[in-house]
Amino acid sequence: MNPLVEPAPRGPLLGVNIDHVATLRNARGGSFPDPVQAALHALRGGADIITFHLREDRRHIRDDDVRRLREQLGAPLNFESAVTPEMLDLIEQARPPMVCLVPERRQELTTEGGLDVRGQFERVRDACARLAACGCRVSLFIEADPAQIEAAAASAAPCIELHTGAFANAVEAGDEAASARHLARIRDGIAQAAAAGLQTNAGHGLTLQSTPTLAAMPRVRELHIGHALIGHALFVGMEQAVRDFKAQIERAAAQAR
Ligand code: PXP
Repeated sequence: MNPLVEPAPRGPLLGVNIDHVATLRNARGGSFPDPVQAALHALRGGADIITFHLREDRRHIRDDDVRRLREQLGAPLNFESAVTPEMLDLIEQARPPMVCLVPERRQELTTEGGLDVRGQFERVRDACARLAACGCRVSLFIEADPAQIEAAAASAAPCIELHTGAFANAVEAGDEAASARHLARIRDGIAQAAAAGLQTNAGHGLTLQSTPTLAAMPRVRELHIGHALIGHALFVGMEQAVRDFKAQIERAAAQAR
C-alpha cells in the first residue's frame, strides 16, 4: 500500500497562500499588513499548511518574510519556487518541509500554466534530488497533461500539484461545457498520478464555488488556495475565511464518501 495515493480520510488539507497579504503590504512599502501575522491567523482558523512564493523579483514575499515564517510558525510551510540556482540555494538554507516547483515568468500576473517538466527534464530531476537530500518534500506544479505527469513520475518527485486555473475560471464564468471538459482532464490526471504512485494536490484560481468539486475527489490530498481566500478574508476576517473554505472542503469530502 502506498499511503501517498490512498484516499484522504477527511478530505484534502488546506494550504493557505499568503502572497497577496504581502502584495498589499508592499503597496505602501511598510510592514503592514504582515503576511506572517496573516499566517498565524490562518492557522488559528484551521489552515493545515502555509504556502508562499518567493519570486525572483520579490514582488510580494521577501527573504526576511521567509526567515520569520521559519522562526514563528510551527506549521508545515510550503515554499513555492522557480527552478533557478538562486532559489535552490535559498531553499537549501531555509529547509522548508515542503517545496512546490513552479514556472516563473517576469511579467506574468500570477503563475501561468504548469511547469514544463518534460521539456527541462534533467534540470527538474536534479532539483528534485537536491531538495530531497535537504529533507524537503518536493511537489511539481503541472497541467493535467499525460506527458507531464509521466515526466513528473520519472523525475522521482513524490508529489504533483495539478493546475486548476482553467477549471476554476470556467466555473466562475458559468461555462458548464468548459468546466466539465477541464474537470475530466483533471480526473484523468489524478488517476494517472495515482497509478504512478504520485501524491496529487491541486490548486490555482479556486474559489468557494469551485473548491468543493476538487475536495470531493478522494485522491486529492492538499488544496492550495490564495487569491479568493485572501479576498474573502477582507470581508469576514482571516480566521473566518479559512473556516469557510475548510467547511466547504469537509462538507464536499463527507458527501462524496
Ligand atoms: N498553487 C500554486 C502552485 C500557485 O503558484 C498558486 C499561486 O501562487 C496557487 C496554488 C494559488 O493560486 P490562487 O492565488 O489563484 O488561489
